Amino acid sequence: MSDSAKPPVLLCDYRAPAWRVTDVELEFDLDPAATIVAARLAVERDPSEPAAPLRLDAEQLELLDLRVDGRRLAPEEYRFETDALTILLAVPRARIETRVRIAPDTNTALQGLYASGGGQSRFLLTQCEAEGFRRITPFPDRPDVLARYTVTLRADKARFPLLLANGNADGAGDLDGGRHWARFVDPHPKPSYLFALVAGRLESIEDCFVTAEGRRVRLFIHAEPDAIGRCGWAMQCLKMAMRWDEERFGRCYDLDVFHIVATHDFTMGAMENKGLNVFNAKYLLADPERATDDGYRHVLAVVGHEYFHNWSGNRVTCRDWFQLSLKEGLTVYREQEFESDLASRTLRRIEDVRVLWRAQFSEDAGPLAHPVRPDRYSEINNFYTATVYEKGAELVRMLASVLGRDGFRRGLDRYFERNDGRAATVEDFLAALEEANDVRLSPWLAWYAQAGTPTLEASERYDAAARCYELTLAQHTAPTPGQPRKQALPIPVVVALFDERGARLPLRLDGEAGTAERERVLPLLTERATFRFVDVPVRPVASLLRGYSAPVRLRWNADADDLAVQIRHDDDGFNRWFAADALSRRLFAQALASGAPDARQLDVWTRSLAQALADPALDPALVAEMLSIADAGSLAEGLVDIDPDAVHVARARVETALAQALAAPLLARYGELSGATDAQAVEPAAQARRRLRNACLAAVCRADPAQLPLAAAQFAQARNLTDRLGALSVLLSAQAAGAEEALDAFAARHAGDALVLDQWLTLQAVQPHDETVEHVAALTAHPAFRWTNPNNVYALVGAFALRNPRAFHRADGAGYRFVADAVARLDTLTPQVSARLATAFGGWRRFEPLRRALMHRELQRLAARDALSPDLADIVGRSLA
Ligand code: PHE
Ligand code: ZN
Repeated sequence: MSDSAKPPVLLCDYRAPAWRVTDVELEFDLDPAATIVAARLAVERDPSEPAAPLRLDAEQLELLDLRVDGRRLAPEEYRFETDALTILLAVPRARIETRVRIAPDTNTALQGLYASGGGQSRFLLTQCEAEGFRRITPFPDRPDVLARYTVTLRADKARFPLLLANGNADGAGDLDGGRHWARFVDPHPKPSYLFALVAGRLESIEDCFVTAEGRRVRLFIHAEPDAIGRCGWAMQCLKMAMRWDEERFGRCYDLDVFHIVATHDFTMGAMENKGLNVFNAKYLLADPERATDDGYRHVLAVVGHEYFHNWSGNRVTCRDWFQLSLKEGLTVYREQEFESDLASRTLRRIEDVRVLWRAQFSEDAGPLAHPVRPDRYSEINNFYTATVYEKGAELVRMLASVLGRDGFRRGLDRYFERNDGRAATVEDFLAALEEANDVRLSPWLAWYAQAGTPTLEASERYDAAARCYELTLAQHTAPTPGQPRKQALPIPVVVALFDERGARLPLRLDGEAGTAERERVLPLLTERATFRFVDVPVRPVASLLRGYSAPVRLRWNADADDLAVQIRHDDDGFNRWFAADALSRRLFAQALASGAPDARQLDVWTRSLAQALADPALDPALVAEMLSIADAGSLAEGLVDIDPDAVHVARARVETALAQALAAPLLARYGELSGATDAQAVEPAAQARRRLRNACLAAVCRADPAQLPLAAAQFAQARNLTDRLGALSVLLSAQAAGAEEALDAFAARHAGDALVLDQWLTLQAVQPHDETVEHVAALTAHPAFRWTNPNNVYALVGAFALRNPRAFHRADGAGYRFVADAVARLDTLTPQVSARLATAFGGWRRFEPLRRALMHRELQRLAARDALSPDLADIVGRSLA
């Protein structure tokens, strides 16, 4: 394998830093071609480490000057290597001064200081998480070194009128030669990964928020001139997030100013730098003409997420990168709760579970599987994964459900109070929850340490004579790389029992006194347990794992009619959908095995959905979700020797069968929803109606292509992006006569709008047609596509590789070749993006022999290249291991 793989860092090797940095003064002479960074660090040795040299991480820096306590060092007093500057210091504390030169203009990795945008509005910004600060100045670039920062920026005033860094403003003024300066002081000690600066000619909007503690905070959003008009929604979201965190978790903001900056050049969603969040424009800009309903909700969620990091991440940070989920899992959970409180809880839950199944379960079933708290990594950038984020959030959710709403709040209060200003661990988190609730949570550590998705097997027995219902639950987790044996985990299984008309049945366990709860948590703490309910008057319909109470694969051969009762009557919206999904998966499995779904069960399913469709009291968004069966990737999850063509055909059979069975009511509902006058309204109710209307349109046209003029008409008349894209998607997937013209019309209408054109690229990249590979390859030459822009790459190549299994897995290997070539090309530009795309090959062993061999060959071809980035070398290496 390639020699560029770094040796792994191990959790068990953690040692507290030998040297701390208490104060940092930074001075930047900003220039896109050559920026000079002068740093003054006050460092202190840990008395227990008398012999340790001072090691400062340093990458891609040109060292111009180095002084200790004012004295320039001789060459034998330090070592400057490719990744570190090491200084031998005899004194216990010192002032270290460095001067380095860096080149933002040519930084396509988008880590450290880089440039974004073009022409007049080209501006400078930083990205430091996880290890980007070492590309700005020599520093112990690890999250457990917390320091106070004072930052002075100097730049040409005409080109860079706006200068920003973390913290409160502390002076500004003009300099000779058309330059100016600005200084910032951040009173909160922080790790280097939260450092940020921005310099450019950006436009701004301003608002204000008064915290519950009475602090008046100035709020700013800065964006390029053509984008500033689309920042209003994000500002509203920010204020909602600030209020919500006060009300729900008692967390107030702690600086006098809060800035958000939008950029089109970003490898991730957004970044929570202290007081100076940087956002991928995709998650910040929204207006009815240029953002979909999902786009609006994503802005709400991501603005919330980054804001919530101010406590879960910034005030309390991570001791080391193994603890990444401590901030990310917790913050995703907080973000989920925020959106659930402000928009639709059921919809958010369904979407989260869909993502978990598609992205996290498959990650956990392949060579890239790792625990929520990994115990080793070679490249930390590759651990911003569905496991750390989404599964991590599920662990927090389980803890919250076990402790109850108030207990969890108490525990979280304790966690923030105990660890404020510190770098914490998962153990610190659990200890705070334990203490505040007087419970023992140590068994939960196993969830953080063990990779793989547990399977939860449920079986039941009803004894009519004894009026007794027995539910047996058993768990099993398959081995994952490096973890051959798995232990039993605590699994909270939330249940309710219904009769066949949907009335609640009592939930008294054998031996309990007579309380009749409506819903309860069954704790499965061992490999297997049987729960015996008494006084159950009729054979019950069990609603299991309500609200998806644990991230497990539920194996339960529930009777189809029982699932129908749940679809119809369950008062947990999520479980109504869960039951419909379970039934559709069963039909898919039948279609895959024998060519056709079982007729009787198909009938049960379609009749249940017909009822849902006709129920005016049901949330239209929930109905839409019930009508949308799982994508092929999610359906194939858990299969072996996957044949992507067979999966596609079986899925299409089930989808078409539903559309045909419901053709008339779907058409009627489509018509009813078409008269809406709220085309530009973004309230959840209006979004829900559009969601259902678009689901109806897709199904109607699938059942009968003669209905495609409806899609053409919707496309022509759409007054918002959701309806326009929804119609275009139907035209494309049907390969309708006017599809090409519609594509062109869309591109012409939105010419110059990068974010909308990204969606246009994605729509084409996900078409499950034979010629999609060639079409996508041709689109890489379109003016809207640049290889150096991660949004473009993910929209086109990422969507193709990760969301179009049919075309990616084309039997002749053309899809694999195209993606592997793209990965190689991107590796020289933006290694993080290259590594993420390469995960598309991670599941290679689960495919049928032909595909398996073709995918394996592409991985080997990548491994054989010289000078792989550490990021890509790590993914390829683990995939092949
Ligand atoms: N910490 C960011 C978030 O989840 C993600 C991120 C990681 C952004 C690394 C950029 C680089 O909120
Ligand atoms: Zn985050």
